[in-house]
Amino acid sequence: MTFTVAIDGPAAAGKGTISRGVAAKFGFEHLDTGLLYRATGRRVLRGDDPVTAAGALQPEDLLGDDLRSGEVAQAASRVAAIPAVRAALVEFQRAFARRAGGAVLDGRDIGTVICPDADVKLYVTASDDVRAERRFQELRAAGADVTLQSVLADLAERDARDAGRDTAPTKQAEDAFLLDTSGMTIEAALAKAVQVVGAVYSSGG
Ligand code: CDP
Repeated sequence: MTFTVAIDGPAAAGKGTISRGVAAKFGFEHLDTGLLYRATGRRVLRGDDPVTAAGALQPEDLLGDDLRSGEVAQAASRVAAIPAVRAALVEFQRAFARRAGGAVLDGRDIGTVICPDADVKLYVTASDDVRAERRFQELRAAGADVTLQSVLADLAERDARDAGRDTAPTKQAEDAFLLDTSGMTIEAALAKAVQVVGAVYSSGG
């Protein structure tokens, strides 16, 4: 059995928590596709060519606390605007989406470009202030030396670049369910996502 859940949205909207929770609930595997771009960006910060870096990613590239840093996030967003970088990462993501047992992929273009035929699509968003506050708390909890202002500026810059690029911009697919988590706890947002996925899954896809 294959069953693909596509979860897209802007930075720090809650996609990761929701994706992990949906995957755990239904026994699916989860791929955080942002990690592929972050790992590529980190290799570029170390001096690699972007396209070569994307094509050479190894499982160990997806490890390390620094992948979550603001510097790596910005590098990820820059390499993600290069069409050949995106092309180098497509097949891996599509193969993951088709894995037996079900898959949840979260990113920016999963429902629009990577898996346009996904069984369920969610577009998760939240207001700029709410997203910045959540990411600020996450980064502080991880020991990063950041201010709320710097986090807000980082998200705004990345969102503008990610939504404005020509290739696979951040976009809600026409058939995606919109989940605005601004006024919700993360538990409530996850419960809603589970309900939306469950309605399709229990009816046999
Ligand atoms: O965690 P956060 O939402 O802040 O970012 P992420 O999902 O880890 O993605 C980091 C960067 O990778 C984004 O700003 C995008 O530029 C890029 N990305 C993308 O272009 N396409 C995807 N499917 C996933 C991430």
